Amino acid sequence: MVKVAIDGVVQEVRPDELLIDLINRAGGSVPHVCYHPQLGPVQTCDTCMVEIDGRLIRACATAVADGMKISTKSAKATAAQVEAFDRILSNHMLYCTVCDNNNGNCTVHNTTKLLAIEHQRIPFRSKPYEVDNTNPFYRYDPDQCILCGRCVEACQNVEVNETLSINWEDPNPRVLWDGGSTIGESSCVSCGHCVTVCPCNALMEKTMLGHAGFLTSLKKSALSGMIEIVKGVEPETGYGSILQVSEAEEAMREHRTRKTKTVCTYCGVGCSFDVWTKDRHILKVAPEHGPANGISTCVKGKFGWGHINSEDRLTTPLIREGGKFRQASWDEALGLVARRLSAIKANAGPDSLAFISSSKCTNEESYLMQKLARAVIGTNNVDNCSRYCQSPATMGLFRTVGYGGDSGSISDMEKADLVLIIGSNTAESHPVIATRVKSSHKLDGQKLIVSDLREHEMARRADLFLHPNPGTDLFWLSAISRYLLDNGIAHSKFLDQWVNGLAEYRKSLEPFTMEAAARISGVPEETLKTVARMISEAKAVCILWAMGVTQHIQGSDTSTAISNLLLITGNYMRPGTGSYPLRGHNNVQGASDHGAMPNMLPGYQSVDDAEVRQRFATGWNVKLPSTKGLDNHEMVEAIHQGQLKAMYLFGEEMSLVDSNANFVGDGLSKLGFFVVQDIFFSATCHFADVVLPASPSLEKKGTFTSTERRIQRLYEVFEPLEGSRPDWRIIQDIANRLGAKWQYRHPSEIYREVASLTPLFAGVTYERLEGFKSLQWPVAADGTDQPLLYTKGFAFPDGKARLFPLNLSEPTDQPNAEFDLHLNNGRLLEHFHEGNMTYRIEGIREKTPDTFVEVSPELAKQRGIQSGTWVQLTSRYGQVRVRALVTDRVQGKQLYMPMNSVESPVNRLTSSYTDAVTHTPAYKEASVHLRVLPEVGESPLPRINHRFGHPTPQHGVEVERKWKRADYRVPGNGLVQIQTN
Ligand code: SF4
Ligand code: SF4
Ligand code: SF4
Ligand code: FES
Repeated sequence: MVKVAIDGVVQEVRPDELLIDLINRAGGSVPHVCYHPQLGPVQTCDTCMVEIDGRLIRACATAVADGMKISTKSAKATAAQVEAFDRILSNHMLYCTVCDNNNGNCTVHNTTKLLAIEHQRIPFRSKPYEVDNTNPFYRYDPDQCILCGRCVEACQNVEVNETLSINWEDPNPRVLWDGGSTIGESSCVSCGHCVTVCPCNALMEKTMLGHAGFLTSLKKSALSGMIEIVKGVEPETGYGSILQVSEAEEAMREHRTRKTKTVCTYCGVGCSFDVWTKDRHILKVAPEHGPANGISTCVKGKFGWGHINSEDRLTTPLIREGGKFRQASWDEALGLVARRLSAIKANAGPDSLAFISSSKCTNEESYLMQKLARAVIGTNNVDNCSRYCQSPATMGLFRTVGYGGDSGSISDMEKADLVLIIGSNTAESHPVIATRVKSSHKLDGQKLIVSDLREHEMARRADLFLHPNPGTDLFWLSAISRYLLDNGIAHSKFLDQWVNGLAEYRKSLEPFTMEAAARISGVPEETLKTVARMISEAKAVCILWAMGVTQHIQGSDTSTAISNLLLITGNYMRPGTGSYPLRGHNNVQGASDHGAMPNMLPGYQSVDDAEVRQRFATGWNVKLPSTKGLDNHEMVEAIHQGQLKAMYLFGEEMSLVDSNANFVGDGLSKLGFFVVQDIFFSATCHFADVVLPASPSLEKKGTFTSTERRIQRLYEVFEPLEGSRPDWRIIQDIANRLGAKWQYRHPSEIYREVASLTPLFAGVTYERLEGFKSLQWPVAADGTDQPLLYTKGFAFPDGKARLFPLNLSEPTDQPNAEFDLHLNNGRLLEHFHEGNMTYRIEGIREKTPDTFVEVSPELAKQRGIQSGTWVQLTSRYGQVRVRALVTDRVQGKQLYMPMNSVESPVNRLTSSYTDAVTHTPAYKEASVHLRVLPEVGESPLPRINHRFGHPTPQHGVEVERKWKRADYRVPGNGLVQIQTN
């Protein structure tokens, strides 16, 4: 600790702290316009000048040092602060009362007040640029832009999309997109970082405009008139009294605008934010305090909420009658569900019923669904869609380290010296995690290796990009493990102390030579040796993987091979190391954690463990089934075989997202009784007998668990749309009509029960999760959680990890003469899965209207295909018609189809082969025949899609270029206006 004096008050502080943070923490009031704690020093505004030993310095860019005597209010400091802010006001017109940003958090407004500015010494001058409205979600008003550069810093160094810059050398600097494009035609991915950090109204969400204020919806002419009036009275009255009027208006807004914390309903990153609303209108999403994301979001979290108020939300239960659906009351629909489920149970036994929980819904809802299956019906036939993606990764970790979850946190991925990404299009599927890796790679020298079939953004950024043959990851990963062991560069101390099974594992590695790996994977031996060297030389390695690994017949084994490799290199148990299977859905981790699995009760407690079963049986006051139930895949088979008669599914688009969709659809149509609960009439509803209208995440309370095992609360932003109900209430209603006497009045009561029965969550309480607080499981009874999972040992009785021997099997559904092309599939940044929610968002539809198939330039040339050509893809299982997009992201005879389509779902083409251990479909093993159709349409991706932009990478805002301007002087040394013509 060091001693410093701030305005005469001596304090003991940490030496590395920035002065501005210290002053703020100590309750000081130095202005700071460009500084944002999550961006670090930007140094463009000069308003934070303080005096130290007679010298003026920027408090935002100076670290505390022993003995500093800081004066924040000396005449010299104050004059510099005012002078700097005067320059800012020359770029910004203060019309707060009629500004949608007048919400108490406008930095320009608040600084005007803090510095008691009464008059502008440098007059406001308009910039010679038009307002840019070309992005569907936000707009830029150059006239209000104070050139603080926060947006540039956020785009370049936090999001690392590298779209924004400021043309400091121009007589009239402004923010530029791609160096001078319109926003709409730029590389902007609409993540909203820039809008979130803008300290004024220069960048604003369009949903705010005309809605946030009481007077801001006035016609433009009236607004301009009012602005003129303000300008007119300012010389006489000064800003003080004008600000008083705007503050009265701001106070009125306080009563009308609600700010409610929620957690994103899309991917597993677990971004959380406040949602600002006025009645049922979303004003904006404001990320700031989220433990996983801070100021970060992607387009879906920031702007993807149009589905909530979509006109086609389900608001009435529907009952199938005579081949058609008719509306019904809740009472009638629930009565019918209860009667039919009871009758089928009575006739065919409890195991003739199955339950599918939703990994989009809350932990509490998954808990109730599995409780309904087990305690009320008496079957373990319950599963969730982690079966489609994540179960193999969980299995790989169960086998080797004990817990089925990420072994650290997103912050560990940031800290790693080397990140290896395998089979994950992270920038599109887990965008905010990608930002952290991109940023560490760009700014902190982190090394990045990417292995994928496609040369996507992360691959392009990588220091080393591997393009192995499909389905061969297990081989090259195991060969690297063998190479490290053979050459004595494995971490023998770690192995001795923490790992069992080395001898047997080494024996199993015999076939995995580098030579064989190069032959099988197609990755040159030298490249594989480079990977081995990079891993062994890095101090801390994280491996991130996703469905490119798990959705193969050897998904579990390849996940195991990844963990084996981390073990032999000692990359567990330390910050910056570990295994990170990136969870796809927002709550796919939580759905399994809370027991929506056929073999596990909540907290991964086995159904065949008598002690566990007894604990739950006592807690629930029932007898429980002891044999493992059917998983999703087995359920479909069992329907076809006539064993499964009824199914109750909520929040899951099974008919499109399960593999071999035609086979699944045929199965669903054979069900004797099928209940589907959703927010829209999904494709799966077409097979239902009863459809129940549920509420989306913004209309719910509860908890989600993100990929880093982080449990977070979501609060109710809106009341459930009239006619719809939160899923937990519906499940409870059905359970009670089946004779259960559940009396949960609030999801917190459900969680209390979870915690009481599940050691993994023993200390989870709603109080400990209040607001933006979170817990990363396991959570001990005293509330201690574990951001880094393995600190004192692994989750096995002796605390030691286990190396797990593996063999390679041949991938399925291989190309042959007829089905000659390999088809890969996955997500797209803008859409979530089939697009049931995201196609209802106008801006997303505008930018990404349809699905497509990516075709390599070589193949396109060979077959006469151009972007927009319609093609028919035929696999051994089905057919789709889709437009081609020619791109060098794919190579040779490999195709890629994103999964966002209800009309042409890629899963009509995929097979019923599965991972042998977990039954996760081998979605990534598919071969097709491509027929070029005569029609040529528009390119499936419009020119305004970000993929056609041209980013302008640079290191942040590059303030040094501003300082080099002839008209720039450090404030305090004479008043100079930055903008001159
Ligand atoms: S990508 Fe677009 S929305 Fe995101 S920070 Fe950059 S300019 Fe802003
Ligand atoms: S648009 Fe960018 S540079 Fe302009 S005020 Fe906003 S954050 Fe600052
Ligand atoms: S989709 Fe994922 S990355 Fe995007 S905001 Fe939501 S949680 Fe964050
Ligand atoms: S806050 Fe320090 S220069 Fe802007």
